[in-house]
Amino acid sequence: MRLNKQHWAVIKLLVFTLSLLPFFELLFDGINDQLGANPIETLHFGFGDWALRFLCIGLALTPIKIIAGQSWPVRFRRMMGLFAFFYASLHLLVYVVLDLSLSWTALIDEAPKSPYILAGLVTYLLLLPLALTSTQSMQKRFGRYWLVLHRLVYVAAITALVHYFWLVKKDYTQPLIYAAVMTMLLAVRIYKFYQKQMRRVKTRSPGLRQKKTTNNEISR
Ligand code: HEM
Repeated sequence: MRLNKQHWAVIKLLVFTLSLLPFFELLFDGINDQLGANPIETLHFGFGDWALRFLCIGLALTPIKIIAGQSWPVRFRRMMGLFAFFYASLHLLVYVVLDLSLSWTALIDEAPKSPYILAGLVTYLLLLPLALTSTQSMQKRFGRYWLVLHRLVYVAAITALVHYFWLVKKDYTQPLIYAAVMTMLLAVRIYKFYQKQMRRVKTRSPGLRQKKTTNNEISR
């Protein structure tokens, strides 16, 4: 079945609603006093976890496209990226508003002292321009530089992992799982890039050979 514009609009609305569920779940638990013994920590960690999950989902879409040979996964790339930014903003907001009593200066003071806070801040500052330039009009305005700018997402994925590894004290299982997933996703992209380069070299070489023989013939 070929999906038309309306089908895609419905599917996008569904994915959008599903992506908001973690937010409403945490909000609902907060309102009903069901966030456990340390509600601020539950909220803060919950939003941080979801920011990282959406970053992974966003990064997984192109490899899924490559493996499945279907173009539809990339339709959701922008939405997933924006949700990663949305949850990262809530994660930061909970920390500054509830943990640091709205003191942004405390955050600036804290960053050089705690490397994991610095890594979190760097990740957030990398995601910010990506979110701000994610619209189609911005894509047109930036032209080919837009792609270069949006490659920052790989740097953000690495700094997000550094943030997680640095803050964990004992059990590294979770950050290791994220690191393994991201490595696999990157490996698929590197493999595809390598294949493309090889194909380019192969298609170029017959022309080169032909040029060389023509040159030889001329010189003879
Ligand atoms: C200004 C930006 C950020 C600040 C200040 C910040 C700060 C923090 C702090 C204080 C913790 C808890 C550490 C602890 O008590 O052990 C934490 C946990 C975490 N953060 Fe961030 N963070 C920032 C950005 C980010 C971003 C952009 C992401 C993901 C894309 C992220 C993902 C996480 C994750 C996954 C956790 C661990 C949650 C868990 O253990 O379940 N953070 N962050």
